[in-house]
Amino acid sequence: MPLSKHLILTGFMGTGKTTVGKLLAEKLNCPLVDTDAEVEKSVKQSISSLFAEKGEAVFRDWESRVLKEVLSGPPRVVTTGGGIVLRQENRRMMRSLGWVVCLTADRDELLHRLKGDESRPLLQGNARQKVEQLLEERRGYYRDSDWVIDTTGKTPEEVADEVISAIQKEFSQV
Ligand code: S3P
Repeated sequence: MPLSKHLILTGFMGTGKTTVGKLLAEKLNCPLVDTDAEVEKSVKQSISSLFAEKGEAVFRDWESRVLKEVLSGPPRVVTTGGGIVLRQENRRMMRSLGWVVCLTADRDELLHRLKGDESRPLLQGNARQKVEQLLEERRGYYRDSDWVIDTTGKTPEEVADEVISAIQKEFSQV
């Protein structure tokens, strides 16, 4: 089913953007692109080694560059890194060129899902404290979206169906 604009998934780390994005792409028979994967392709290294070698600011520049490129292409399901909402420029681009669906989950469920994660540079050390701090800082930015969908206690399949019916209900054009 062709999309008339991008379907963009945002949300904190561990909310299931990547898994739900894959399901959405399958269900809608639509191409999928992930901004983190595009950054890794462009810099030819993993996000964690980019953070370690060049720092978060350099990663954020790449993230914005890649987002701009992705959004200038044909409509796709776009999955993003949890911090993409930090820059106003990114939020503005996403809101004007796509439907922005933000996935959320209860703090305890997030902590459970992210337990022992070693791939996310921002969670190394005291993960609980970091999750709480980042959630607090980003709460308002995540609300800057067309829909907010709580994934707590739901399967990725259920979340994907909820996203599709939210869009169908509003626009009847997916
Ligand atoms: C980040 C989330 C990560 C990745 C990077 C920074 C963040 O993506 O972009 O580690 O700032 O929340 P996921 O949300 O897919 O884990």
